[in-house]
Amino acid sequence: MAKELHPSKFLVLVIILLSICDSEQLQSSQSQALLRIQGLLNFPAILSSWDNNTDFCNTEPNPSVTVVCYEDTITQLHIIGKKKAPLLPKNFSIDSFVTTLVKLPTLKVLSLVSLGIWGSLPGKISRLSSLEILNMSSNFLYGGFPHEFSLLSSLHTLILDDNMFSGRLPNWLDSLAGLIVLSLKNNLFNGSLPNSLGSLETLRVLSLSHNHFYGEVPDLSRLTNLQVLELDDNAFGPQFPRLGDKLVTLTLSNNKFRSGIPAEVSSYYQLERLDISSNTFVGPFQPALLSLPSITYLNVSGNKLTGMIFENLSCNSELKQVDLSSNLLTGSLPKCLLSDSNDGTVQYAKNCLEATDQYQQPPPFCHTEALAVGILPERKKHKRVSKVLISLGVVGGALGVVALAALAFFLIRKRGNARNKTKNPPTRLISENAASGYTSKLLSDARYISQTMKMGTVGLPTYRTYSLEEIEVATNNFDTASFMGEGPHGQIYRGHLRNGSFVAIKCVKMIKRYSTQNYMQQIELISKLRHRHLVSALGHCFECYLDDSSVSRIFLIFEYVPNGTLKSWISGGHSRRSLNWTHRIAAAIGVAKGIQFLHTGIVPGVYSNNLKITDVLLDQNFVAKICSYNLPLLSNMGKVGHKISSSGSKSTNGNKSAKLDDKSDIYDFGVILLEVILGRTIKSRNDVDALRDLLQASIVADEEARRGIVDAAVRKACLDQSLKTMMEICVRCLVKEPADRPSIEDVLWNLQFAAQVQEAWRGDSQSSEGSPGSPLEPRRLTLH
Ligand SMILES: *[C@@H]1O[C@H](CO)[C@@H](O)[C@H](O)[C@H]1NC(C)=O
Ligand SMILES: *[C@@H]1O[C@H](CO)[C@@H](O)[C@H](O)[C@H]1NC(C)=O
Ligand SMILES: *[C@@H]1O[C@H](CO)[C@@H](O)[C@H](O)[C@H]1NC(C)=O
Ligand SMILES: *[C@@H]1O[C@H](CO)[C@@H](O)[C@H](O)[C@H]1NC(C)=O
Ligand SMILES: *[C@@H]1O[C@H](CO)[C@@H](O)[C@H](O)[C@H]1NC(C)=O
Ligand SMILES: *[C@@H]1O[C@H](CO)[C@@H](O)[C@H](O)[C@H]1NC(C)=O
Repeated sequence: MAKELHPSKFLVLVIILLSICDSEQLQSSQSQALLRIQGLLNFPAILSSWDNNTDFCNTEPNPSVTVVCYEDTITQLHIIGKKKAPLLPKNFSIDSFVTTLVKLPTLKVLSLVSLGIWGSLPGKISRLSSLEILNMSSNFLYGGFPHEFSLLSSLHTLILDDNMFSGRLPNWLDSLAGLIVLSLKNNLFNGSLPNSLGSLETLRVLSLSHNHFYGEVPDLSRLTNLQVLELDDNAFGPQFPRLGDKLVTLTLSNNKFRSGIPAEVSSYYQLERLDISSNTFVGPFQPALLSLPSITYLNVSGNKLTGMIFENLSCNSELKQVDLSSNLLTGSLPKCLLSDSNDGTVQYAKNCLEATDQYQQPPPFCHTEALAVGILPERKKHKRVSKVLISLGVVGGALGVVALAALAFFLIRKRGNARNKTKNPPTRLISENAASGYTSKLLSDARYISQTMKMGTVGLPTYRTYSLEEIEVATNNFDTASFMGEGPHGQIYRGHLRNGSFVAIKCVKMIKRYSTQNYMQQIELISKLRHRHLVSALGHCFECYLDDSSVSRIFLIFEYVPNGTLKSWISGGHSRRSLNWTHRIAAAIGVAKGIQFLHTGIVPGVYSNNLKITDVLLDQNFVAKICSYNLPLLSNMGKVGHKISSSGSKSTNGNKSAKLDDKSDIYDFGVILLEVILGRTIKSRNDVDALRDLLQASIVADEEARRGIVDAAVRKACLDQSLKTMMEICVRCLVKEPADRPSIEDVLWNLQFAAQVQEAWRGDSQSSEGSPGSPLEPRRLTLH
């Protein structure tokens, strides 16, 4: 909501102004005008204290009446009557009333609410040429807007809710160039909205609820400041409006919308309230709406949204009120909507969902209805200007890329201006050409690249930049079918490149506006994050705002790892797809090698990765890959998220905090190992502490104790010596004092030892089962 409207702030302002103007003496003509207003309003009780002796500038403000003076004139007048005030008597004249009002020509803020004022607003109100805020809600004003309103050039807030204004909204509205709030709720306006509304670029709040408007909503995508759009209870439609992505509240309920929900809606990162209920929206419901980063209220009830939803969908934890009822949804209700005994409400009756306690239609109903409304959502192709970018070949070095970006911006700007002249909406586009590679820069940095890395990246395509078009094609325009999930920093899509390979595309929405140059250093670091045990970066793409060329989103392209998370192969009763002991050790070794690479394989190292077992993916050969690490890009943006080091400052190489960060990764690794060994889901730090103690106890007890607690799925096949080694290193990783935790090299050595004894035994056991003993004792390596 616009700041100007917040009552408490307003009060503070009033009080400060009052104290400044304490000693002013009001011009007598203005006092006379106020007294006349009192009479014209038929002496309402709230003004009973006004008389010939009132010192208007020094009266105590109250919620009903406030007069604010500056020097010796009145700048603010607020008279707020009782709710549902009756009509003023027949002899009231709006014309005399306004004639009196304009005797206060210095008024900047005027509220005349619930006073029974009736009539058609005369044009001479425009003589209040300083007027900035006008609130005349809850009266009985009728007729159209006087054309002279357009002369109120300082007006930024116009609130005329709950009146009886009628006719169309005039086309000259755009002459109120500074308008921030336009609220006309609950009137009798009709007709379609003028296109000029789309050029009020300062507009932050537009409320047109409860009128008789109809037709398409004009293109509002240029209103980049628009935060609140309320169009409910009209007859707008059928297309979903084109809007900017800064919206906080979007209410379209009870209209005649009949289209699909465009994919862009899932990029409204500030959206808190979305109500599109009681329309005829068709096409697939976008599960991404549940996980929008700011969403708290979502109402899509009473539409014809189709598609299958899954239990495993994720939701924003702040999402308290959800209404999915009366659609054509199938599948099962996402767990995240039910799980935490949340204090909100979740409604989902009258769909075709499985086994729920709210009334559902039989599945054929949704199927036939869905066929009946089979209108596919319109997916307008973004018009893009990228064609004007000249196609440059391979550009060596970051400098070249920066120069290319600058050149591209120049072209975009020129083109952008030309477009503005022809009143086309601005379009976002990419700043970099797909052809420029990073290879030479990478090679020149070879001294920083450890042997591990060079070995590790075999088989990956060269890091490069991607074009926005390429990404849109690969994700089928960010189709919901490509949506993989929501990471801490944005959505992840699966992409299918033209060459047939799959990639994972992370969309990182930038909150602050920076140019591409500001990201170059981080992009360079990301380009080095390539290793056998990392889900490696393959490239990136910038999407920029047209107006100032700052980066709106960065797409990071990663290899696609198809085989699920390590967790899905460990715990949760999927014994059918449970990893055997050898594979578990191999996975742990992979994760440890990934961590080792993050710490030492690149400069500066990447620490505090806050790794969880769900951040480890397995590929088709069960090679473990870390998919969520502390991307330098993200941590340096100061964005919220759990990836930011608890020590506050991001460490560069070799200082003290790096040492401690490195030990926080060891601890997290210990937690993963704990789950790998025990096959239990670990929910809290308390769990960790209790289970660590259990492990410790079983280590000093005997083989039977150890076999008693290890995951039942591997109990038979693991050699005690191997198990004991794993348990020991796990316990050491989980030591409270960071400095006492082992180094990553120490961890790796022990894991490899555990793998070797297991392997040796398996070899033996083929010939002589039943004698699983091994004489080997693990050698302690200490590399502090
Ligand atoms: C205020 O003064 C005017 C003359 O200046 C007089 O006509 C009127 O009755 C007075 N009103 C009150 C409420 O005293
Ligand atoms: C208007 O009429 C009311 C009674 O209905 C009366 O009290 C009031 O004085 C009149 N006002 C004017 C300005 O004539
Ligand atoms: C208009 O003024 C009334 C009374 O102060 C207030 O309740 C209302 O919120 C204002 N309208 C807006 C949109 O701020
Ligand atoms: C819009 O409202 C005005 C005034 O009530 C009426 O005269 C006009 O016929 C209406 N127009 C339409 C198209 O409904
Ligand atoms: C959703 O909207 C419908 C109709 O517009 C309304 O009846 C219902 O109460 C809303 N649900 C919630 C949870 O607010
Ligand atoms: C969710 O579950 C469905 C089927 O149960 C599966 O196809 C889909 O891949 C799962 N999605 C994620 C993100 O795990």
